[in-house]
Amino acid sequence: MTTIALRRVTADDWETWRPVRLAALADAPTAFGSTLGDWADAGEDRWRTRLSIPGALDLLAHTEDGAAVGMASGVPGDDPGTAELISMWVDPAARGRGVAAALIRAVATWAARAGAHTLELSVMPDNAGARRAYEHCGFRAVDEPGDALPDGRHEVVMRRDLAAERPQGAGSA
Ligand SMILES: CC(C)(COP(=O)(O)OP(=O)(O)OC[C@H]1O[C@@H](n2cnc3c(N)ncnc32)[C@H](O)[C@@H]1OP(=O)(O)O)[C@@H](O)C(=O)NCCC(=O)NCCS
Repeated sequence: MTTIALRRVTADDWETWRPVRLAALADAPTAFGSTLGDWADAGEDRWRTRLSIPGALDLLAHTEDGAAVGMASGVPGDDPGTAELISMWVDPAARGRGVAAALIRAVATWAARAGAHTLELSVMPDNAGARRAYEHCGFRAVDEPGDALPDGRHEVVMRRDLAAERPQGAGSA
């Protein structure tokens, strides 16, 4: 299998991050809250703002030849002790090889080190592939509705306990 390296990006990497995010929005138009139309003409300032969320981690996954094949971000959650996984995408050609799992592991480790006990995400109810991938990576759907969708359905909220990722000496959850 090709070796995958994860790289943390910042606002100064917006020109590298932008085509990957646009590829994600084009490839999976119903998977995200944002659409390609929302971002196709976005200028530098908007990309820099997206990559400057306070306390966030933005990752790109690269193959050995430098091609970006995936992305994910972690942001502080709404509730204390929580972090949220967002913007998760893997290039179709690189799927099924653990790229998403590696990104999720990195975001989980980052979140635990930042003091979170729970990593949370929202997924579209009909995104069965992503829901299964998240389950394989330790997330469980919770019995509370996520954000409302225009058609009346709600996003599905999934959570993963971060006890296993917590640094030694940080106490038990
Ligand atoms: C969801 C997505 C990120 C998964 O990426 P991936 O790199 O193929 O996932 P991985 O190879 O790391 O798989 C992780 C686990 O999920 C399983 N899995 C992945 N995709 C799956 C699918 N479609 N159906 C069932 N299981 C799946 C894998 O077998 C693996 O399990 P294992 O660790 O027990 O072997 C990718 O399909 C994608 O980008 N989809 C479009 C965008 C999207 O839906 N993003 C989520 C928005 S909330």
